[in-house]
Amino acid sequence: MREKIIQILKNREGYVSGEEISAHLQISRQALWKHIQELRDTGYEIIAVPHLGYQLAASPDKLLPLEIADKLQTRLIGKQIHYFDCVSSTMDIAWQKAMAGLPDGGLVVAEAQHKGRGRFARQWVSPKYKGIYFSFVLRPKILPGQSPLLTMLAAVGICEAIKAKTGLDPQIKWPNDILLHQKKVAGILTELNAEMDEVHFVVIGIGLNVNNDKKTLPPAATSLKEQTKTQINRVDLLQEILRRIEENYLVFQKGARQRIIEKWREYNLTLGRRVKIAYHHQQLEGLAVDLDKDGALLVRGDSGVIQRITAGDIIHCR
Ligand code: BTN
Repeated sequence: MREKIIQILKNREGYVSGEEISAHLQISRQALWKHIQELRDTGYEIIAVPHLGYQLAASPDKLLPLEIADKLQTRLIGKQIHYFDCVSSTMDIAWQKAMAGLPDGGLVVAEAQHKGRGRFARQWVSPKYKGIYFSFVLRPKILPGQSPLLTMLAAVGICEAIKAKTGLDPQIKWPNDILLHQKKVAGILTELNAEMDEVHFVVIGIGLNVNNDKKTLPPAATSLKEQTKTQINRVDLLQEILRRIEENYLVFQKGARQRIIEKWREYNLTLGRRVKIAYHHQQLEGLAVDLDKDGALLVRGDSGVIQRITAGDIIHCR
């Protein structure tokens, strides 16, 4: 009901009478007033003037489901949204909900996380209302070895959305760090529930530094606000990310997997560079020469032997 009220107020420039809204929604004037109060409590500024009615003056800077869903127009990702003020980690919530049957594309979003995590159990600092923190569930019919392509298509979607909304030129450090001027602005964490030959579901978590102030970020990180010197509308950006990821996911589902790798290359910062990689308790140094069809990194060591790396922490040497 509250979604419908906001929709009516958003679609009208001036005032809408209480009579008109309650007649349209077939609720009493008293019930309407109660909903208006609840909307105000969540942060909507709604002006009420006797004999004129209601007008929406401002929407809150929150990632509320009714804001995200408004004109999202995706078929899958974000069709079901679970919103939290603060959680331990959206990864844990999405995982639990996936175990309980959350469908393909189900989304968990939070304004803050107190145990936000990144790859290799690193912490993901998640201050309230500053960044975008979300996880979504996918249920693709793929082999576990193909799952890195999902991370890659998410990375491409994030880059496309950042570029479209800010004009900045993001780059991807293999496998899934999004950088702006060599500093990390977003990260992706992919967790798999799978057997040897079957993926049950995948949870993809994305953390993006949006309106974080420079002084609150780690030295190797940046935010969109720092780069653009403007406050970014988080709802607008999140919607674009969801649309772009879905677009790439549909390409992937149609089997055009090479297209994902081609798109990834457009944002690549790693290929052609000398890299140091820590993986499986080993260190490898060499030239990052290419990606294979599943998105693994091919590194030519100094002996000339090419190694296929599927996961690891890499440092760009020069
Ligand atoms: C990385 O760069 O290592 C990945 C960072 C992923 C952070 C996001 S924030 C939303 C989701 N919840 C988490 O706890 N982690 C991911």
